[in-house]
Amino acid sequence: MSPGFPGAVLGIETSCDETSAAVVRDGRLLGHVILSQDAHERFGGVVPEIAARAHLRQIDAVVTETLREAGLEADGVDGVGVTAGPGLVGALLVGVNWAKAFAYGLDRPMIGVHHMEAHLFANSLESPDAHPPFVALLVSGGHTLLLHAPAWGRYRLLGQTRDDAAGEAFDKVARRLGLGFPGGPEIARQATHGTPGRYRLPRPMVAGADGPDDPAWFDFSFSGLKTAVALLADEIESGGRDALSGAVPDLAAEFQDAVVDTLVTKTMRGVERTGCRRVLLGGGVARNVRLRERLAAALAPDGELHAPSPRLATDNAAMVARLAEHRLASGERSGLDLNADPSLPFPGLARERPSTGSPPNGGAPCTPS
Ligand code: KG4
Ligand code: ZN
Repeated sequence: MSPGFPGAVLGIETSCDETSAAVVRDGRLLGHVILSQDAHERFGGVVPEIAARAHLRQIDAVVTETLREAGLEADGVDGVGVTAGPGLVGALLVGVNWAKAFAYGLDRPMIGVHHMEAHLFANSLESPDAHPPFVALLVSGGHTLLLHAPAWGRYRLLGQTRDDAAGEAFDKVARRLGLGFPGGPEIARQATHGTPGRYRLPRPMVAGADGPDDPAWFDFSFSGLKTAVALLADEIESGGRDALSGAVPDLAAEFQDAVVDTLVTKTMRGVERTGCRRVLLGGGVARNVRLRERLAAALAPDGELHAPSPRLATDNAAMVARLAEHRLASGERSGLDLNADPSLPFPGLARERPSTGSPPNGGAPCTPS
C-alpha cells in the first residue's frame, strides 16, 4: 500500500481507557505514546466517567510528548486522525474535540476513523505484506468479528459474537476466579502453570452448525462458556475457598483453550470459505500467545499469519494514525461537525454472508503473494 499522503499524520485514540497519540509518515511510526489508566483496576472494569476525565487531564501531555519523540512542532503536523467510535461516548468526545480544535487552529485536514478498522491497520505498520485480500479476526474487549477483506475499505462480515466479546469473556472469567483487570493477561499468565483438560469446558458453537450456509458456522458465543466456568468455580468452591485458588491455573488453561479452539476453528472456516490463506489478527486478545501459536500452526505450511506486536495489539494511536493517513491520502475528510458515535458502524462492511459456491466480492484471486 503506498501511503500517498504528503506529510506527517497525528493520530489520537481515547475510545476506552488508553490515552494515546502517534505520528506516522509514509507508513512509518515517528512517535507514539500510550498512557494506560490504572485507576479502573480496583473497580474490576472501566468506569466511563473516570476514563473521560483522565483523558481530559492527560491528552495535552500525551500529544506534547509524542511530537517531541517525532521531532516535530505542532505546525509540522500535516493531517489529523481521531477515533470517532465505537467506544465510551464521554471518552471519545475528548479525543474528537481535541482533534477538531487542533485541526481548526492549524487549518489542517482531519478524519474521524473507526476503532476496529484501525485495529486492522496496526498490522500494516509492521509488516508490508499485511494487505488485502485477507481474512481478519478482530478480537477485543467489545468486539469479536470475522471478516473477509478483498480490498481496504471493502469488508464482508463472515461471523460475529452473539453475546459477549472474546476479551470480555476473559475479563469476566478472570473476575470470577479472583484475578485482576484486565483479565486476558491474568488468565494467560495463570494458564502457563495449568493443564488444559483437567476440567472440561464446552467449545461454543463449534459443533451443531450445518455448514457455511448456516450463520452459526461462523458466529461466536462466549456467554455460556463464562457461565460454565462460574458453575465449575461454584462447585470447586463448595469444597473451600482454598480449593478454588488451587484450581485456578487448570481452569484458566482450559478456558483459554476453549476460547482459542473456537477462534481458530471459525477463522479456518473463513479461510476455507474464501480461499484466502492470509490472515490478519487484531485487537487486545491478539496478544494471546496461545492464540497466535495455534493460528499460525493451523495456517502452516502455505498460509500467512500477520499479528501485531503486543504494544500495537491493544488500544493505541499508531493504528489510528496509520488508518487516517490511508484515508487522507484517498482524499477523505471529516468536517467540524464530526461527532463521537459510541456505536459507529464499521465502514464498508457488507453484512450479507458469502453464499456457498460463489466466491465473495466477485471472487478476486485470494492467494498470498
Ligand atoms: O483492543 P483492546 O485493547 O480494547 C478494546 O478495544 O476493547 O482489547 C482489550 C481486551 C481486554 O478484554 C483484555 O482482557 C484483552 O484484550 N487481552 C487479552 C490479552 N491481553 C489483553 N486477552 C487474552 N490474552 C491476552 N494476553
Ligand atoms: Zn481496541
